[in-house]
Amino acid sequence: MTEFKPLVFSGVQPTGNLHLGNYLGAIRKFVALQENNDCIYCVVDMHALTAQLVHEDMPTQIRSITAAFLAAGIDPKKHIVFNQSQVPQHAELAWIFNCVARIGWMNRMTQFKDKAGKDREQASLGLYAYPSLMAADILVYRATHVPVGDDQKQHLELARDIAMKFNLDFHDKIVPTGLGIDIKVGEEPVHAYFPMVEPLIDGPAPRVMSLKDGTKKMSKSDPSDLSRINLMDDQEAISKKIRKAKTDPDALPSETEGLKGRPEADNLVGIFAALADKSKTDVLSEFGGQQFSVFKPALIDLAVEVLAPINAEMRRLMEDPGHIDAVLRDGGERARSRAEKTMNEVRDIIGFVR
Ligand code: TYM
Repeated sequence: MTEFKPLVFSGVQPTGNLHLGNYLGAIRKFVALQENNDCIYCVVDMHALTAQLVHEDMPTQIRSITAAFLAAGIDPKKHIVFNQSQVPQHAELAWIFNCVARIGWMNRMTQFKDKAGKDREQASLGLYAYPSLMAADILVYRATHVPVGDDQKQHLELARDIAMKFNLDFHDKIVPTGLGIDIKVGEEPVHAYFPMVEPLIDGPAPRVMSLKDGTKKMSKSDPSDLSRINLMDDQEAISKKIRKAKTDPDALPSETEGLKGRPEADNLVGIFAALADKSKTDVLSEFGGQQFSVFKPALIDLAVEVLAPINAEMRRLMEDPGHIDAVLRDGGERARSRAEKTMNEVRDIIGFVR
């Protein structure tokens, strides 16, 4: 049984400020994965149109996500960093996937329901088809591993469903052209053109929660800025937000079991663990029995130590937009040539004349 060549792909939308959830759930993992993998990291600017069509400072938004990637430590020479709109093959494959995905599958997407809200008739068609473009982002490179936060899990399951249906529906075209390879799905060997993507979600902070409410996800769209730590926050803001973060009156437990039913405590311990590259168990063995009055100052110190250099480097990079654009153009070119290879094969499998 042959295996697909391991390839990491992930994307971040250029909408609003990046926050600690984006950093711990995604970008920090991107950095770690580049040591031993071929990686492609994308600023998904076409996704940004789905919830809001007109963005006043789109170029700045795109550059600031790119700056965050670079400041966090992603190497754009060894890997590929680019913005999605420079590679039109994403949209082309997404169209094909729109014809693979079933309406019933899309109707189950909880993020669409949340984002569309009550007035679903007014949501854009793009917001509805969003997960299909996301599947195309990944599969146009036939990527195998996707580091994301917990909120993207359902979208990645859909990407697997799309890949599987394409593989099965075009089975008779893939085998004679010799383009696919054998993969194992459960116990069954399947001849596949597209891999079954694997989400990389684990870690101590797969879902960073709001600092004001441990049951709500930390998000760009929360009206309260105190609910999140932004990557562009200075030392003073980080310190104030952690000091004001909601907690309960009890001391920290010594075991992770004791975090059950204490969402705010669980969240802060998870954040500490992710920032320190430790497990929650390690953190509790150090702080178990301590009050938040001891834990919070330690968390502030750690958050500032990790985030301040990233913040400073992002500011430095943002002063040279020409450099950022050159990085994106170079990445775009390399991404395009890989994507075009896949698209030529997909066109042949489908039977488009070229
Ligand atoms: P986006 O731009 O909303 O978020 C970028 C990444 O940050 C993660 N994330 C979180 N992780 C932990 N806790 C949180 N509170 C938190 N908030 C956000 C997200 O899970 C994501 O990994 N659909 C994607 C972008 C995308 C994509 C792709 C990702 C487009 N195509 C292909 C992977 C592969 C999104 O909207 O992410």
